[in-house]
Parts: sequence; C-alpha cells; structure tokens
Amino acid sequence: MNRNRKILVTGGTGYIGSHVCVQLLEAGYDVVIADNLVNSGRDVVERIARITGRMPAFYETDLLNLESVRHIFREHRIDGVIHFAGLKAVGESVAQPLRYYSNNLTGTLHLLTAMQEEGCRVMVFSSSATVYGETNPVPFDESMPTAATNPYGYTKVAQERILTDIAAAQPDMSVLLLRYFNPVGAHPSGLIGEDPNGIPNNLMPYVAKVATGELPCIHVFGDDYDTPDGTGVRDYIHVCDLARGHIRALEYAFTHTGTDVFNLGTGHGSSVLELIRAFSEACGRELPYVIAPRRPGDIASCWADIHKAQDVLGFTAQATLADMCRDSWHFICCRKEEKI
Ligand code: NAD
Ligand code: UFG
Repeated sequence: MNRNRKILVTGGTGYIGSHVCVQLLEAGYDVVIADNLVNSGRDVVERIARITGRMPAFYETDLLNLESVRHIFREHRIDGVIHFAGLKAVGESVAQPLRYYSNNLTGTLHLLTAMQEEGCRVMVFSSSATVYGETNPVPFDESMPTAATNPYGYTKVAQERILTDIAAAQPDMSVLLLRYFNPVGAHPSGLIGEDPNGIPNNLMPYVAKVATGELPCIHVFGDDYDTPDGTGVRDYIHVCDLARGHIRALEYAFTHTGTDVFNLGTGHGSSVLELIRAFSEACGRELPYVIAPRRPGDIASCWADIHKAQDVLGFTAQATLADMCRDSWHFICCRKEEKI
C-alpha cells in the first residue's frame, strides 16, 4: 500500500528527519527531502541510502522561497508532508526573534500554500513539549492549555494554531500535531545522529562531548528542584522510537481527517544525574560534573502522558535510557573515526 505513496519530508537531512526518512523508506514509502542545509549536511542523504539501500530524492530548498517549494510539488505528486524544517535553539530564538518567526512561520505558510494549490491533504507536524509552558502539572496531556516562554516556543504554539485553523476550513484535510519530549540517541548503524557544532545547549550532546574529552566537565543546572535528586527531570525518547511514532501517525493521517494532537514520549522521567550515570556506563568511564546555578526558563519536571498515543496510534516507546546512551555513544565514536 505504501509503495505508491510519496512523502515530502521538510528538514529531512536534520537529526529527527533523517531517522524518519530511514523508516519511511524501510516501510516502502517514496521519500522526497527538502532542506536548505542550514543545520545539516548533504552527506546525510547518502547515509540514509546506505542504511536503507534506497535513495531519497533531495532538493536543497529553502522553504522561505515559495517558488522552489511549488517546484517540488509540480515535479512530484506528493501524498503527504512531514514537516520538520525549522530553527530550534531556544537561546538563539531569544537573541534573533525575527529570524525565528520568519523562518518557522513563513516556511510553514509557504508549505501550506503549495499543498493547497496541489491538493495535498495530509500533514504531520513537529511540535514540542515546550507548548505545555511552565504552569501545567506533570504528566502533560494533550488536553492541557498551551503556552510559551520564548520565541521558539511561540513559533510552535502559532504553527499549531495555523495548522488547526487551516484543517478546520478544509474538511478533507488531515493534520497531526506531534509533541516531542526530549529526543536523544542515534541510529544503531552509527551513520546518522546528532553532533552539533560548537558548545551544545542540550544535555545529551553536551555529555557526549565531555565523554570524548572535547569539553572538560558537565554543568548540572541546579540541584535544588523539587525532584527526587534535586536535578531537572525530562522524558528522554530514543530518536528511532520517535521515528516509529511518525510512521504510525502518518498511517493514521491517511485514514482520518481533521486535526489531532499526540505526545511522543516514554511517559517516564529521568533526572540529569541519572542520565550522566547512564552515559558513564555506556562510555565506560565516570564523567566529571559540577553543580551550577539553575538555567533561566527551565522547569523542574517534564514528562508525557502517553495514553493517547498508545490507545489511538498503538505507539509505545521501547528503548531504555541505557539504549539511548549506548547508541549516542556509538554514533559519536563512529563520527570521530570518520574525522580521523
Ligand atoms: P535539525 O535542526 O536537526 O533539523 C531541522 C532541519 O530543518 C535542518 O536540517 C535544517 O537545515 C532544516 N531547515 C531549517 N530551516 C529551513 C528552511 N527555511 N527551509 C528548509 N530547511 C530548513 O532539528 P531536529 O532536532 O531534527 O528537529 C526537527 C523538528 O523537530 C524541528 O521543527 C524542531 O523544532 C522539532 N523539535 C525538536 C526537538 C529536539 O529536541 N530535537 C524537540 C521538539 C521539537
Ligand atoms: N541541563 C544541564 N546541563 C546542560 C544542559 C542541560 O543540567 O548542560 C539540564 C537542564 O537544566 C534540564 C535537562 O538537563 O533539566 C534537559 O535539558 P535540555 O536542554 O537537554 O532539554 P530541555 O528539556 O531544556 O529542552 C528541550 C529542547 C526544547 C524543547 C524541549 C521539549 O531544547 O527545544 O526539550 O521538547 F522544547
């Protein structure tokens, strides 16, 4: 059935998008990637092909250029879109709000314009647990009110609104809003994963750079939160589990209309210290850390209520924190070997 379906993956050479492309190709879908490579490399296309034995079509396209988005829809009969393309660094969004609003919102509007013109009715969108804001109690469930605390978060809240309104006006359209918790880990092949340039903002890539010796020490942002060990608790989900959730969501979108929203997490929180311990086990040495002040804007705890994804999509994450650390470490080691 999937053999005849062609999926446009925006941001498909990025961290999450590349893992989803792998699983789409493995499931028999045809894949067209559109990415401007602002935060990824062209080599990822080749890596996806090495893993799957199938080559996706690739367009180096900026979604801000409406004509080039239209061009893709004219060259391919696109059955559905998975929309990952966007800027995602919270701190950068505070410093460069115009760039974030412009890139994330205009890019989405252009995509929707081209979809509407060509009669493409299925959209799966990358949203984030950040839309639960600061005041909801954990676990977060999909019916809770949304909020944001920074421009990046506002772009997610706004995109959810835009997509919901557009689907409401087009009764044959299907829009799924997927709220990711904390994606980590890498493909077990070691060929794709996340290896940000410079000093990472997020915990797992930071820990990985301490493990390689590129950074001297982990800074634990606060040990006085109202959590079991005082450090921040998050719902880390293996990127391959997350990708599987997209395949389920896409299958659901092809058989249902309207807008729906799903959390993609494990339903289980881990503390910063637990993650450091798990990574130390994975890399085989104790990783040094110091307790630092809280990071402004961080909440104590964030984990998903996963019942809806379980009941409606039949999706449950499988990987443990140990699996996530093992695969991240394997990827980083493969990356280092390639660079030598
Ligand atoms: P990523 O940066 O690795 O991938 C995003 C891709 O989009 C990159 O390859 C980048 O080059 C591309 N891109 C950005 N702007 C573009 C534009 N205007 N036109 C074309 N391509 C463009 O990020 P990721 O971690 O894979 O995240 C994918 C999506 O998931 C993003 O929308 C992000 O906000 C969302 N998300 C990520 C996380 C996370 O922790 N990684 C959590 C929640 C939600
Ligand atoms: N942390 C540290 N030291 C670090 C980095 C992080 O102690 O060097 C702590 C944070 O305080 C937090 C936890 O590790 O308690 C996780 O922090 P991350 O930066 O890895 O992840 P966040 O939960 O803060 O945010 C991420 C993305 C957001 C997204 C959110 C929910 O960065 O964009 O997950 O999906 F919105």
